[in-house]
Amino acid sequence: MDSTAWRSAMGKFATGITVITTKDAEGNPQGMTVNAFTSLSLDPPMLLVCLDNKSATLKHILDSKTFCVNILSAEQENVSRSFARRGDVDKFEGIPYHIGVTDIPVLDGCLAHVVCGLRKAVEGGDHQILLGDGLQLSIQQSETGPLIFYGGKYGYLTDSLPQGASAS
Ligand SMILES: Cc1cc2nc3c(=O)[nH]c(=O)nc-3n(C[C@H](O)[C@H](O)[C@H](O)COP(=O)(O)O)c2cc1C
Repeated sequence: MDSTAWRSAMGKFATGITVITTKDAEGNPQGMTVNAFTSLSLDPPMLLVCLDNKSATLKHILDSKTFCVNILSAEQENVSRSFARRGDVDKFEGIPYHIGVTDIPVLDGCLAHVVCGLRKAVEGGDHQILLGDGLQLSIQQSETGPLIFYGGKYGYLTDSLPQGASAS
């Protein structure tokens, strides 16, 4: 399977964007941008995220056993870009956050956030599938829409309809 073709095909699936936050062994805030996120179960409330084995954030989550899913709004493209950076950079610089229920960072201004306890990490090729139990959440009351990722580009929802469709 050609990896470029694989990426292109997967990129045809439009997603929202999250930032997964946690803490390191010293209690410092850590995190990364992730669109491989899905709701998994209602009872019990569970979700999953898929993190690259090479990701530094993955190691911190496996140690701390907790993470937060921050669902980004259309106004947070800068947040997505900051947390997609690798290496020795302060991804939180200029980005407001507070400390949540398991002593991990929760980003301000998101559409919603869910703090999770790590139930299980399952191997999935070059990624780990992290299953999280929802512990605490918040939902933003504003009308701001989601930040979208499609075809390797950022996008936003508009009021436009597909050709031939009519509003009912
Ligand atoms: C829109 C977008 C979505 C991403 N989704 C994922 C993802 O689902 N899983 C993943 O492992 N990396 C994903 N990444 C890449 C990570 O954010 C990136 O590799 C990051 O630098 C990892 O940081 P870390 O090594 O400090 O943990 C995504 C990047 C972008 C821009």
